[in-house]
Amino acid sequence: MLVIRYTTQQFEYWKATLKEILKHVRASILDGLEVSDVVLTDVRKAIDAHTLSGGQRPGLAVVLVGSDPASMIYVRAKRKDCEKAGISTRDFDLPIDTTQEELLTLIGELNADNEVHGVLVQLPLPPQIDEIAITNSIKSSKDVDGFHAFNVGRLALRQHGLRPCTPRGIMALLHYYGIDAKGHHCVIVGASNIVGRPMGLEMLIQGATVTTCHRFTKNLEHFVRQAEILIIAVGQQGIVCADWISEGTIVIDVGINRLENGKLVGDIDFESAANRAAWITPVPGGVGPMTRAMLMLNTAEAAGIFINEPHKQSPDV
Ligand code: GUN
Repeated sequence: MLVIRYTTQQFEYWKATLKEILKHVRASILDGLEVSDVVLTDVRKAIDAHTLSGGQRPGLAVVLVGSDPASMIYVRAKRKDCEKAGISTRDFDLPIDTTQEELLTLIGELNADNEVHGVLVQLPLPPQIDEIAITNSIKSSKDVDGFHAFNVGRLALRQHGLRPCTPRGIMALLHYYGIDAKGHHCVIVGASNIVGRPMGLEMLIQGATVTTCHRFTKNLEHFVRQAEILIIAVGQQGIVCADWISEGTIVIDVGINRLENGKLVGDIDFESAANRAAWITPVPGGVGPMTRAMLMLNTAEAAGIFINEPHKQSPDV
């Protein structure tokens, strides 16, 4: 066997050279804009075929209470996506002082309306309204956000109903790029009802080993260093330091933070993280459009239109 012996000096030289080369090897982009466009086109085709053969056009009721600037931007984007996907919308922009009873009455009407297949109430809601009571008041078959306890329970039991949009969108994005989470260590930072918790369930279904970190986690760095797939969903810029990421990690940044200069950034420093990761989602243009695309897919499914998605996952665990 040929053994090449390097002097310490030579070894250090090669190490420094390799480091220099790796500095210029940047992560590939998980392009949520591109993939969401594919999904929206698929949804549009399926809806067109359905309506052409006499089927009812899917309808989504979008309810916004108050005028939170971020919520207004999200809702506007969702309504625009409905237009692209061929879904008709009913818009309800309610005043900030709407009572819980008034909102429950509206949801009751929408639950009973045969032209409405999906009901979306934008969160957060003003403090006089109990969010849990509202999300659970939406008929589970119209719960296109996938937030109803029944639908989350179904996901936990691997009996897919309507699935929360952000985790579903992340799984679709990974699948599109041929990334299989099976057997990999997925570390999720953030344990919210909307993202962190259902994300763990999706990853379990896919066969990943899941660690969920949250505000009581001691030594976040220790867990982040172990991640093969890292999903950060906190909404706090800098919560994860890019130096903690191991080379070759797949980084999914769910955070959206607006800087004082108006620029939108994620929870991690993109430039530094991209120098270490194998794949990374940009902000904006990563998870956000995928979340909205999954809302369109869920609405079509709630209307009984099932799309043969190129990004469909196989529940095998
Ligand atoms: N607020 C932040 N994200 C979401 C979402 O996905 N759905 C709703 N309804 N509200 C949100």
